[in-house]
Amino acid sequence: MTSTHQTEPTLSLVDASRLHGEGPQAVRALGPVSLDIFPGELVAIMGPSGSGKSTLLSLAGALDRPTEGKVLIEGRDLADLSLAELAALRRRVIGFVFQDLNLLPGLTALENVALPLELDGSPLEETRTRALEELERVGLKDLAHRFPDNLSGGEQQRVAIARAFVGPRHLLLADEPTGALDSVTGEAVMRLLKSQCARGRTVVLVTHDAAHAAWADRVLFLRDGHIVDETVAIDSTGATQHGLPGQVQQNPAQHSQPQPLSPV
Ligand SMILES: Nc1ncnc2c1ncn2[C@@H]1O[C@H](COP(=O)(O)OP(=O)(O)OP(=O)(O)O)[C@@H](O)[C@H]1O
Ligand SMILES: [Mg+2]
Repeated sequence: MTSTHQTEPTLSLVDASRLHGEGPQAVRALGPVSLDIFPGELVAIMGPSGSGKSTLLSLAGALDRPTEGKVLIEGRDLADLSLAELAALRRRVIGFVFQDLNLLPGLTALENVALPLELDGSPLEETRTRALEELERVGLKDLAHRFPDNLSGGEQQRVAIARAFVGPRHLLLADEPTGALDSVTGEAVMRLLKSQCARGRTVVLVTHDAAHAAWADRVLFLRDGHIVDETVAIDSTGATQHGLPGQVQQNPAQHSQPQPLSPV
């Protein structure tokens, strides 16, 4: 794949498809789709219901396997990994944030954030320290001992983001993380995600909200399982380049390169 980037992509899809069922009855949920997402990028995915957004995130997060094509995380083809290696990848590299059911209600914010580290066998004291650091980063250190029920929706999402990034994890896949939030809280979550990217972490998020997508370096538009358009931030003034109707790029990842962060 052509690229001006010196670094390896965090995430690559190479002609990846996901079909459900077989033969003429098969439903094509996605693809074939090819894309590269690089360290520090915030990429938004938009598209109508049923266009394949969640399918793409599931493939990217090793929760599902492509029927055809490849998914690579930091250059490693997921098809080559054992189940144990895939599980380790989800504990150490990839974090998920979903619209609902993000947190375990019986655990405090701190315990929720520490969970992936505990599952990975880190010593108790270390999990606590790192979980607190991550909660501090999202501005919730003081609420670390609260249970999810005693946190606002926005605070719960910030805990979920802290959990998704705790320890060495640095690829966050978020499926409508702002869907249940009011616009001000949703914007605060987007600002937080953007600041995580400024630290070199990578975020791919599905959103239906154009105002939230405007925080992204790139917006990919899906329709019927295909990337039909892409919007890329092109300069430091925040101006963006839009693919116009009729100028649909067949493989946008090969044409458009992400640019340095621009203020939004
Ligand atoms: N297990 C399955 N069996 C058959 N079809 C499926 C299955 N899972 C998903 N699909 C189909 O694949 C397509 C893409 O689904 P997906 O969940 O990725 O859409 P989406 O863009 O996330 O939609 P939404 O915005 O509603 O969440 C849809 O047409 C869906 O019905
Ligand atoms: Mg979905």
